[in-house]
Amino acid sequence: MKQFISVNDVPDINRLAAKALQYKQQPLADKLLGSGKRIGLLFLNPSLRTRLSTQVAAANLGMEAIVFNVDKEGWALEFEEGAIMSGNTVEHIKDAAPILGSYFDVLAIRTFPSLKNKEEDYSEMYIQQFIKYAGVPVISLESATLHPLQSLTDIITIKERLDSLHPKPFTFKPKIVLTWAPHIKPLPQCVANSFAQWINKWGEADFIITHPVDYELDEQFTRGATITHDQDEALANADIVYVKNWSTFTDYGKLYENDPAWMLTHHKLSTTNNAGVMHCLPVRRNVELSDEVLDGKHSLVTQQASNRVWAAQAVLSEIIAEKYK
Ligand code: CP
Repeated sequence: MKQFISVNDVPDINRLAAKALQYKQQPLADKLLGSGKRIGLLFLNPSLRTRLSTQVAAANLGMEAIVFNVDKEGWALEFEEGAIMSGNTVEHIKDAAPILGSYFDVLAIRTFPSLKNKEEDYSEMYIQQFIKYAGVPVISLESATLHPLQSLTDIITIKERLDSLHPKPFTFKPKIVLTWAPHIKPLPQCVANSFAQWINKWGEADFIITHPVDYELDEQFTRGATITHDQDEALANADIVYVKNWSTFTDYGKLYENDPAWMLTHHKLSTTNNAGVMHCLPVRRNVELSDEVLDGKHSLVTQQASNRVWAAQAVLSEIIAEKYK
């Protein structure tokens, strides 16, 4: 793998997921692979899981990880080509990225969308400009429209869940449901886009997306899934329920209605096939998901978040192996 920006950078999802699960069994199996190498973790937005899991993953590979909170500690970056920098931005990405690329063997970056300008967000200008000017492999720690490390984690967590409940070899197609959830403010579409993109490309599930009217996601990611506004119908016989809020895509970045009836409760899970419940975290308790679900036997959220280490480690190892083969 030369970079990790989306599922399109992954030649074989099952092989990468298997590698991640091998690292879960043997975290230090490749403890010298990254020896003498450095990764720069650049954050333009807050993070708990992504930041720490990637640091742990790098340490497991013998690699040094240096975190830079660009938004708080760095100069304000300009990303527009040809910008007249007479405003608030101080340093152009054209100048900063090659310097970062000279300090590090791999760069990883987290940016969020503005949720104001759809064309700009969906052009992925920030991460594309880093790729253009850094000169080293770039890993997305979540971009304006996608969160691929989260999605790889989600696939390995789903595999673990299915393997634990069904004796191998199982031949059935699991029913995986992505359900919209209420929230108090408009959130990016990244996690939902990315989950849809990965599950569709993986192709080993019946995939249903359910959300209120007007919360359609970008078709480039959802094509292949069944989409319904009837959450009860979607949840029936589900094996996995992935809960996430997202803001509107068509009339971009809005929170139209916030019907609390969309919150996933224990009662709603009664029609599922003993579904495992997932959420990328952080989660607004008793807004997106009820306490009883998060603290109950259906919840996979802690296992899911802990799997972030193995997903990051698998991706990092592939990038290092490719660059230094
Ligand atoms: N799920 C996720 O990306 O969590 P953080 O925002 O804490 O990194």
